Amino acid sequence: MTALHVRVSDFSKTYKTRRDEIEAIRAVDMDVRETEFVSILGPSGCGKSTLLMAVGGLLPMSGGRIEIAGQLVTGPRRDTGVVFQSPVLMPWRSILNNVLFPIECLGLSLGEYRRRAIELLEMTDLDKFRDDYPSELSGGMQQRVAICRALIHNPSLLLMDEPFSALDAMTRDAMNQELLRIWEEFKKTVLFVTHSIREAVYLSDRVFVMSPRPAVISRVVDIALPRPRDLSIEETPEFNAYVTELRQAIEG
Ligand SMILES: Nc1ncnc2c1ncn2[C@@H]1O[C@H](COP(=O)(O)OP(=O)(O)O)[C@@H](O)[C@H]1O
Ligand SMILES: [Mg+2]
Repeated sequence: MTALHVRVSDFSKTYKTRRDEIEAIRAVDMDVRETEFVSILGPSGCGKSTLLMAVGGLLPMSGGRIEIAGQLVTGPRRDTGVVFQSPVLMPWRSILNNVLFPIECLGLSLGEYRRRAIELLEMTDLDKFRDDYPSELSGGMQQRVAICRALIHNPSLLLMDEPFSALDAMTRDAMNQELLRIWEEFKKTVLFVTHSIREAVYLSDRVFVMSPRPAVISRVVDIALPRPRDLSIEETPEFNAYVTELRQAIEG
């Protein structure tokens, strides 16, 4: 059994707007172990992004505590990488320089990380495009660039917020396979937000189901499917039994 990596205890979040207060998350407890792939599954607006951004240190909390590697999260951390729903690349920078952007922000040596950036681009089949600009790449390719950018400083924890939901179904399948390959190669801990039940089952070791707002974790399901997984696993009765179980959990 590997060590605990992320611990969320009694986390709550209420957004205060000028007119009223929105209780987004009531009380969430969640433990994630090192190198585990965990998905957070729930309907739109239930607070998935809120939870993920809090783990990333990108959002003030209303209550509770979040620890990464035993340390209280008080802001963004160097050992965490984030991938958002849209790739948010900088259009005026080449693909290679987009991947290297965090290195600049962190004040690290560009020369030292250039080799690693090229390796990541090779691994995601993008090395031919390193001198191109984001507008010359498809949506799926841009999202692969965003994944390379999140991995460039070698974080041990990868936070992903519906990273493939804007892609067409076939590209999404390919990206899911690619993500598992990267995860198996680099042994990262991944916290992955999605509203797709099948995506959560395909990718995860465990799936946390969030209830509608104000959110709590309503169910945790261990996905005991063998790895490495390829897409044919989606045809198996075991896979579809998990899908059914999670659908019923979401419907309450
Ligand atoms: N900055 C904000 N101000 C006020 N309410 C917000 C803000 N961000 C999110 N919310 C509300 O909090 C709830 C959860 O949002 P979010 O975490 O984005 O959900 P999800 O990612 O599951 O779709 C929603 O009802 C949303 O309207
Ligand atoms: Mg969201």
